[in-house]
Amino acid sequence: MTHNPNAITALRSDLAGELRADDQGRRVAVCGWINARREHSQHLAFIDVRDHTGVVQCVVDNAHDLRSEYVVRVQATVTRRAAETVNPNLATGEIELKDCEVEVLARSDPPPIQIDARAGVDENHRLRYRYIDLRSERMQRNLRARALVNSALRAAMQRQGFVEVETPFLIASTPEGARDFVVPSRHSPGQFYALPQSPQLFKQLAMVGGIDRYYQIARCLRDEDLRADRQFEFTQLDAEASFVSQDDVLAFITEAVGDATEVVTSERTGEIPRLTWLEAMERFGSDKPDIRFGMELCDLTEVFATTDFNAFKAPSVKGICEPAGATKTRKQLDELTDKAKQWGAKGLVWMKVEPDLSLTSPVAKFLRDDEKQALVARLGAEPGDLVLVVADELARARHVLGLLRLELGRPAVNEGSLSFLWVVDFPLFEGLDETGAPIPAHHPFTMPNMADLELLDSAEPGVLLKVRSQAYDLTLNGWELGSGSVRIHRPDIQRKIFDLLGITPEEARQKFGFLLDAFGYGAPPHAGFAFGIDRLVALLVGEENIREVIAFPKTQSGADPLTGAPTAIDPRHLDELGLRLSPDPR
Ligand code: AMO
Ligand code: AMP
Repeated sequence: MTHNPNAITALRSDLAGELRADDQGRRVAVCGWINARREHSQHLAFIDVRDHTGVVQCVVDNAHDLRSEYVVRVQATVTRRAAETVNPNLATGEIELKDCEVEVLARSDPPPIQIDARAGVDENHRLRYRYIDLRSERMQRNLRARALVNSALRAAMQRQGFVEVETPFLIASTPEGARDFVVPSRHSPGQFYALPQSPQLFKQLAMVGGIDRYYQIARCLRDEDLRADRQFEFTQLDAEASFVSQDDVLAFITEAVGDATEVVTSERTGEIPRLTWLEAMERFGSDKPDIRFGMELCDLTEVFATTDFNAFKAPSVKGICEPAGATKTRKQLDELTDKAKQWGAKGLVWMKVEPDLSLTSPVAKFLRDDEKQALVARLGAEPGDLVLVVADELARARHVLGLLRLELGRPAVNEGSLSFLWVVDFPLFEGLDETGAPIPAHHPFTMPNMADLELLDSAEPGVLLKVRSQAYDLTLNGWELGSGSVRIHRPDIQRKIFDLLGITPEEARQKFGFLLDAFGYGAPPHAGFAFGIDRLVALLVGEENIREVIAFPKTQSGADPLTGAPTAIDPRHLDELGLRLSPDPR
């Protein structure tokens, strides 16, 4: 029986994939595309008709005039299949449609790509015919899951008192760390709008405007290099709330993400665990740790505090232990060493743990027995394990071992459990630029941790880098899902941060004057968050690339093979905009 009464239209009574044995005897009308055609004999053929719910087999007298991807309307009688022809792999496999009247509603040229068979098909070619690709079960499932997620998110935010507010697309720049896409202005030749990298500044203005709790399913645009988890255009669940603490924001978002997860997987995420940034870096060497597996970093600095082995005389010595990893060949170990060097390590020491817990390693002879024993004990290493050690500055040792850990232990991003994690207490600054000015880890409107406020007055860069912020990230299976922070609403603190970042009062006025002005007229304390809906949906449906959950994505090189974008524009149009191309645009 059709489960969705809205499916019934003037042309159809049922959806193809929903017919079942208890529809036996009904005269029905289904509409869809011809998925497959099999000639059985001169007067007997089978066609499979596909709509978004699945396929149903139709028995027809002849299929001579029917081709793949023709759009048809079939009026027919639902009939149980004989036991031996039941197809247990098909939801409609117990029945077939007989006494068919087939009406061709539209013909199709031979399809340039095969639906549901991607192997070996060039991505550009497939995206050029995305509308055909969208007919596949995979794309139908993904886009429908995405729609469910969007409505679950909307419902969750509204239930929690958030108001949907749309913010503009043609704006001045929003600082999120990527390049802006810009749009020339015809009314003001030579001047440009930026497209929003996020609604950040507007949502803060909405708080000054008394909206109290804002949310938006916001399209954002960032001109950055594309990767599996990055597109130029993407969608955030963006939120901001007044008179709230960090814990309040985490609770709102946990609720929304929980609902979104449940509508897709039918399972609810429980409490989302929290780690401080420092703990995440120390244990996993990453600010977006994949906690689906162990192999945590182990600090060995003390073990080698008095070592004679030169390579280990470094500020920090750290190791990881891969269970049962000792079977690796010399070639594999050399490749790992090369990778570690590419990631910035000076070298990599590997050690195989023998049955008597002694160590086999090219450098074993340089290490004292007590060092080796302490190393095995610290790491909890067992016979057959592989130990990898990096000695370096703290940040680099963490970074390289964090990557080695992923390289050796990480399940595919879409495998196993959904492991959400909050990472809190991010540092305010992530490093220093070439002029010695600190680089903000989030954006410059992030509130420092009040307990660290005094450290901001220190002239020492080392001390500044210790200042914690009230910024937090949500991660899922090693992907950064979202970020947020408590914002600075006090002009004195904002001035100090701009100062430290080397943003002069004039620059601050020029770039963010409107926000600073607004803060002069009664800004409530506020905090917010945004997470990538493309990323969340991809992981919920088990995709490794967010392209698979976007109806019309760009290719890796940022092109859209379907429409041909980006394209040149008419010289007259350029004139109108007051633009002239350089003779050799790259
Ligand atoms: P942030 O820049 O961390 O924070 O972005 C939030 C989330 O948006 C997603 N995202 C992307 N997804 C796909 N393609 C991209 N190019 C891309 N860039 C970002 C990620 C990311 O975690 N305004 C702040 C939030 C705040 O402070 O409230 C912001 O945009 O999932
Ligand atoms: P070397 O003394 O440079 O010949 O290195 C001896 C061994 O130690 C080699 O296997 C190197 O890969 C390794 N090694 C060198 N520097 C480091 C380091 N900083 N951390 C870990 N291993 C290192």
